[in-house]
Amino acid sequence: MLSASSAPIGVFDSGYGGLTVLKELLQHLPQYDYLYLGDNARTPYGTRSYQTVYEFTFECVRYLFDAGCPLVILACNTASAKALRTIQQHDLPLLDASKRVLGVIRPSVEQVGLLTKTGHVGVLGTTGTVNSESYRLEINKLFPSIQVFQQACPMWVPLVENGEYQGDGADFFVKRDLALLFAQSEKIDTIILGCTHYPLLINKIRQYLPSHIQVLSQGEVVAHSLKDYLQRHTEMAKRCSQFTQRQFLTTDNPETFSQLASLFLGQSIDAQKISLG
Ligand code: DGL
Repeated sequence: MLSASSAPIGVFDSGYGGLTVLKELLQHLPQYDYLYLGDNARTPYGTRSYQTVYEFTFECVRYLFDAGCPLVILACNTASAKALRTIQQHDLPLLDASKRVLGVIRPSVEQVGLLTKTGHVGVLGTTGTVNSESYRLEINKLFPSIQVFQQACPMWVPLVENGEYQGDGADFFVKRDLALLFAQSEKIDTIILGCTHYPLLINKIRQYLPSHIQVLSQGEVVAHSLKDYLQRHTEMAKRCSQFTQRQFLTTDNPETFSQLASLFLGQSIDAQKISLG
């Protein structure tokens, strides 16, 4: 539970996926307070329209701001792809120009450009993230010579959310979707898991990937990027409280959330339910 005076770093996801990012934040920046919000009642976001993802995400960001967060990480690729820019450019100046919202796509892209040797990069994500073209656009901006190949994997999130990520169904869909990605280019040497749920499928993914393919570990990349951001923005670093407190909020059943969250996070937690609006 957070104390009234705390100013935690807010971490938002449509559900459980952002916990794979939070896990790395806790490892690399353990001194800070964190307030996690999973919008489980309205997950998945991956198949929803721009407007809906934006509205849901903005509502959650406002909740985290009201709870005292000076900085919010959108630990969800779909929200980063479809809502981040509007929130940063349109909403923040009106709401509170001193607060910040950061996403997960830009730091991942910065890293992938340093990893690929062939210049052929694969992106796996939800239908929403892939159709938004956010990864392709960001990569083209920073590394114009890199060619981007994308594959939507709409079954991967439900497999994870239903605890089926070690089962035979996971084998089928992981194998099929990776084959569809590599059918686009045999020269892909680096892939981005562009969805925060996918690290839970890493054993299956590795099983069907040639061993020379590098898999970008998004949680770790985001943690390093936030560390760097806080070093460069000392005013923001000072505003984020450091009592090592953690609190977990969900818009759905807190018992179910606590159980599954432990799998994503590797430690047991006690979540609370909130109502938005
Ligand atoms: N975890 C979200 C992401 O990173 C997707 C899950 C969902 O579809 O809500 O894209």
